[in-house]
Parts: sequence; C-alpha cells; structure tokens
Amino acid sequence: MTPTLHVFSAAAWADAVAAALIDRLLAQPRLRLCLPTGETPAPLYAALASADAGVWSQATVVLLDDYVGLSADDPAAGGPRLRREIVDHVRPAAFIEIDQSGDLDAAVRRHDEAARDLDLAIVGLGLNGHIGFNEPGSTAASPTRVVDLHRRSREAAAGYGAEEAPERGITIGLARLLEARELWLLVTGARKAEILRAALEGPETPDVPASFLRRHPNLRVMADDAAASLLTT
Ligand code: GLP
Repeated sequence: MTPTLHVFSAAAWADAVAAALIDRLLAQPRLRLCLPTGETPAPLYAALASADAGVWSQATVVLLDDYVGLSADDPAAGGPRLRREIVDHVRPAAFIEIDQSGDLDAAVRRHDEAARDLDLAIVGLGLNGHIGFNEPGSTAASPTRVVDLHRRSREAAAGYGAEEAPERGITIGLARLLEARELWLLVTGARKAEILRAALEGPETPDVPASFLRRHPNLRVMADDAAASLLTT
C-alpha cells in the first residue's frame, strides 16, 4: 500500500498534526488511540495541551511502550511522561498505561488486550527503525511482549534523563499495531531522514521494522521538511 505523506515546515508541524488529531476526535469522540512518548511528539502534545480539551472527554488513550523497571519518578518512565505532557491536560475518559506492579507476563497480556481494537495508532520512528520497542529483528507478526532494548534505545533513554539505562521494554507488538484501523507515523528532524527513507523506500525487512508499516492500508506519514528531505517521491 502507498502511505499518504504529509510534509510540513518544522515550525508548522506540531500545530498541523494537532489540528488533524482534533479533527479526528471531533469526527469520532469515542476514539481509541495509542500514543508514543519521546522527543518527536513533545511539541505536538504541547500544542494539544493548550487547545480545547473537550474533544478528549470520551476518548481512550493507550500507551504505546515503556521501559521495564523504572521508578515512577524517573524522568524517562513512559506512563508518567505521557501523563505530564498530555494526559493530565486533556483528561481523556481513560488512560491505559503499562501496569508493571505484578507479574510481567500478566502485564503484557493485559496491555495486549488494551491494544486490541484501536481506531488510531500514533507511533514515532526510532533512529534504528524501531516502532515502539519493536526493535530491529521484529517482523509484521511480532506480538506485544517484553523486549531486550537495542543499544540505541538505551542511549535514547539516557537522553530522556533515565537515572539508570533500562535494559528491557514492553511494547505493543507490530502485529497489533497493524490491526489498528488507521496508523500515523510521526517523524521530524534531519537525523531521521535516512531511516525514514529506508522505512518508506527501502526493502521490507526486519532490519528496519518500520518498513512493515507500509503493509497498512491506511498509513499517514506526518513528517517535517528535514525528515522528508531524502524521500524521492
Ligand atoms: C523511543 C520509544 C518510541 C519512540 C521512538 C522515537 O525509544 N520507544 O516510542 O517513538 O523511540 O523517539 P524520539 O521521538 O525521541 O526520537
């Protein structure tokens, strides 16, 4: 399938994606969507946090992925970060984070259930081509699971202020994400240009898990100029 590519200037990107998401919520107030953490969506969340929160009142937000074993006050912990950046501001009807309080296998099963039946999966793109923590080696059939983090993901965690570099993560599997009715891939910045080109124009390969997103019949790529600069189409 050919993804729909939306390219905005860096200055316009966050407001444009926020407007598209607000439109989506207005059209379907009971939207079930998953959201990523990371640097890419931070300006989008800031734009949404300062917009009218009323559209979120019936929505359900599911966290895309998280590190295993970080304390709730670790700046890199995904659930608390998503709360700080958006959930606490827009107050959706439900926010489902990854509850690691008991057995991890049970946490995976619960989160996989929560990730069924998503109307919209919003994901970021790792520098290594990962989607959520579907690290290189993942396929379109990869389930929701605990994963050993790739070196670059551990480095990214340090960049998010993690007190100790986490070794494992829990992620919604690519298989579940591909079942969502609609998928939006958010990509910004020149450092993502090469991996975005590989994801959209290179071969479908587990070396670049994002390349499997092209199988989705309703994929929108929301990029800024810099990230899209190496695309040929
Ligand atoms: C992180 C997270 C993903 C995120 C991706 C890109 O490690 N596991 O959920 O989408 O990598 O992160 P960033 O937007 O900070 O580049």
